[in-house]
Amino acid sequence: MPTLLHVDSSPLYGQSVSRELTGAFVAEWKSSRPDGAVVYRDLNATSIPPIDAGWLGAAFTPREAHSPEQQRLLALSDSLITELEQAEEYVIGVPMHNYSVPSVMKLWIDQITRIDKTFSYANGAQKGLIIGKKATFIIATGSTHDRRTEAPSFNFVETYLEALFGFLGLTDMTFITATGTGVLNHGQDRNAFLAPHLQAVQVRAQA
Ligand SMILES: Cc1cc2nc3c(=O)[nH]c(=O)nc-3n(C[C@H](O)[C@H](O)[C@H](O)COP(=O)(O)O)c2cc1C
Repeated sequence: MPTLLHVDSSPLYGQSVSRELTGAFVAEWKSSRPDGAVVYRDLNATSIPPIDAGWLGAAFTPREAHSPEQQRLLALSDSLITELEQAEEYVIGVPMHNYSVPSVMKLWIDQITRIDKTFSYANGAQKGLIIGKKATFIIATGSTHDRRTEAPSFNFVETYLEALFGFLGLTDMTFITATGTGVLNHGQDRNAFLAPHLQAVQVRAQA
């Protein structure tokens, strides 16, 4: 049974472009895979603490030597990493906030980027441990930043996610960007604006 991990990170819920597009991706993905399962991780509804010295100490301590307190400190990280391990495919919604990913996404990334769980340095060579996965990142930006079609300056979202998830071992990554959503605040018809992005998302979900 194929499993899709669906991650959202926009605080705007009903108004959010990235949430609407990830929702359309999931609907299309399910309709083409009736036996598929979807695991949902809403980062705006998940309480994720920043990593601290205790967390880092636990992460760099071999698992068999963990104290009960260290096990507790890593429990959320363990369960978020299990979600990544158990899904074959990911769809990840990302609103651009201040030229980068939203803070809830950075908190999640800090929990899932863990030595000897999602990456390793065996024999001095860096190796990503999340392999064989297929990821679609759906990004929404208020101004016009699209790395592939427009001036990429100040779009750190896609380059960052590509570098980070590449470090964790992913090679099959697609980025779909709805750029210039600010026009929706100035009278642009939402359905007309979203139509080409919905089509791109649906094509990718069927693939
Ligand atoms: C806190 C915040 C920071 C933002 N920073 C930027 C930015 O740096 N560049 C940009 O083009 N748009 C920026 N925007 C606009 C969002 O990228 C835009 O509204 C996008 O549609 C957000 O995705 P969403 O609709 O899924 O929430 C920002 C919006 C918010 C709420």
